[in-house]
Amino acid sequence: MGHASSASAQLTETGELRHLLTLEGLDRSLVQTLLDLSDEYRRPAGQIPARDDRLAGQTVANLFFEASTRTRASFELAAKRMSADVLNLDVNTSSRIKGESILDTIYTLQAMQADIFVIRDASAGIPAMIAAKVQPHVSVLNAGEADVSHPTQGLLDLLTIRQYKGDFENLVVTIVGDIKHSRVARSVAQGLRIMGTKRIHLVTPPGLEPDQGHYPDAVITNDFDAGIEGADVVMALRIQRERIANPSGLMSQDDYQKTYGLTKKRMQLANPDAIVMHPGPMNRDVEISGDVADGPQSVITTQVANGLAVRMAILATISATRPDP
Ligand code: CP
Repeated sequence: MGHASSASAQLTETGELRHLLTLEGLDRSLVQTLLDLSDEYRRPAGQIPARDDRLAGQTVANLFFEASTRTRASFELAAKRMSADVLNLDVNTSSRIKGESILDTIYTLQAMQADIFVIRDASAGIPAMIAAKVQPHVSVLNAGEADVSHPTQGLLDLLTIRQYKGDFENLVVTIVGDIKHSRVARSVAQGLRIMGTKRIHLVTPPGLEPDQGHYPDAVITNDFDAGIEGADVVMALRIQRERIANPSGLMSQDDYQKTYGLTKKRMQLANPDAIVMHPGPMNRDVEISGDVADGPQSVITTQVANGLAVRMAILATISATRPDP
């Protein structure tokens, strides 16, 4: 399914969000509304987390067919804090390993009255395919789709950038790492474009450049020093070894750290008040040095906290548009 059709397939006939499959094609006003609602769910560290009953009586099924810590844990906590029944399918003991198709797994859980499916899968197109098949009152949330899309990550990154920078239009955002295989980079770049950011710099090692078609107007370079100069936001990404057929062709971790590692020295080329982001999981002292990850410019733990708020906001939004079954 193409991007435009995915974008329209996630909206109801009246333009409300039913599924979240991609950020591409969403209106700025809808993204803004989602960020505003996410802000309402944010709580400072140490305070009691936000809670409500908006999902009471509904069942959220988390189906993660790829590894996850942050996304899976935050969707589970978000659903529980909104009073949903939550099912975390253990994929290693599910019947999918006996050959059951993912669609038959979905139909099985739908028969048990699951209302919201949160899906991470290594194959492109799975969330949209499932969204096209489920009953009208059921929603699908993309929790990471191959190298294609990770829309809730994109939203939590936007929320974090807005929290620290206030605005998007005049920012220089530098993303460094394996952009070619990164669903995070694609979703955050889509979100930034929707919000009006004009200067996005993508820094990659040779061979890991993305298709420019996925990043209209972005500057793609192998020169980290040039790409980070004057940045307001610097996001480091790991090399996605699990998506690279022949990782032996990659530069060594030592060489990578020297050439593309985000270090204190490199951060001196960014704006003095630049923020440092990383979606996780991090490889410390490879794509980001430990002192930068833990340093005063790092907002990495804020990203994690904001992930929970964003997922609560998404669950609230889609459950509000749910028709009676
Ligand atoms: N950023 C992110 O998706 O992390 P997880 O793989 O731990 O969910």
